[in-house]
Amino acid sequence: MPVFPIAPAELNDVLSGSPEGASRAREWCALLEGGGVLYFPQTPVPVPDADLAFLLSRQQTGSNLHKNIAYKPNRDLLSGVDRKSAASAELKKLREIMRRYSAAVDAFLSRFLIPYDRHWRLDYASFRPIEEEGRDLPLRRRNDLLHTDAFPTRPTRGWRILRFFHNIHPERTRDWVVGAPFPRIIGNFTPGKLAVPRPEGLVSGASKFAARAAGLGGLLPHIKRTPYDEFMMQLHNLMKEDSEFQLGCSRQKVQFAPGSSWMVYTETVPHAVLAGQYALEQTFLVDPAVMVVPESAPVRVLEKMAGARLV
Ligand SMILES: [Fe+2]
Repeated sequence: MPVFPIAPAELNDVLSGSPEGASRAREWCALLEGGGVLYFPQTPVPVPDADLAFLLSRQQTGSNLHKNIAYKPNRDLLSGVDRKSAASAELKKLREIMRRYSAAVDAFLSRFLIPYDRHWRLDYASFRPIEEEGRDLPLRRRNDLLHTDAFPTRPTRGWRILRFFHNIHPERTRDWVVGAPFPRIIGNFTPGKLAVPRPEGLVSGASKFAARAAGLGGLLPHIKRTPYDEFMMQLHNLMKEDSEFQLGCSRQKVQFAPGSSWMVYTETVPHAVLAGQYALEQTFLVDPAVMVVPESAPVRVLEKMAGARLV
């Protein structure tokens, strides 16, 4: 069972800061890092009623352009909004709600994931108002195909992608499928379908400087991708394109209840969302150096295969 429900009493233990709570937090980090999903039947980060009512009344219009609405906490900026139909007062309110949500999740995880001691970067938050069932998206952007996450424009350089979700739909479950984690499935793809990453692609600070000096600023996002990031991006695409894997891999269906939250390392655990509407999510990039089980990090798994550093 990759899903681990957390009882309120166990959660309080950790939040109390007791030594027992600290050792429990360590166990949960190990479960997460090993490919488990931590499940809170009642979210520990409740959204204020007024915010919830506002979010549930939103509906993106005509929107194949954006999968969801993103909030960038470091710039206090929304993207993915349908600006033509959204009045600016609405956007302002949505931004305030997302700012509050992002800060609340960050504050909660600071008390919950004690072993990490905030060795993370707060990445984007998102609001997902679109019904997931039956969405018509290009293959590589489909959410209903099992995949591990990689960000095309935001290479993590080996930092892990931890995501905290909240099903804010008042009645419906959010239906996922999860597969076996990275160390167990990577042999399906590498070295057969996808070459083991090689350190030659590593870009030094000097060559980045040279690229800038040569006016190649537009190429920098690609240059900044390490061999690790390149591999993870290719794996994301290949996994979605691989019908043999989609049909044949071991998996488990999970239904997340209305009002629940869950968290998972999505660059490690293959996942797909089959149905559900209205969810909030906050992403964290976590330093692999603070892992309770360091060898579970994909970057370590791949570096072992490559026999060299990849970031
Ligand atoms: Fe994903």
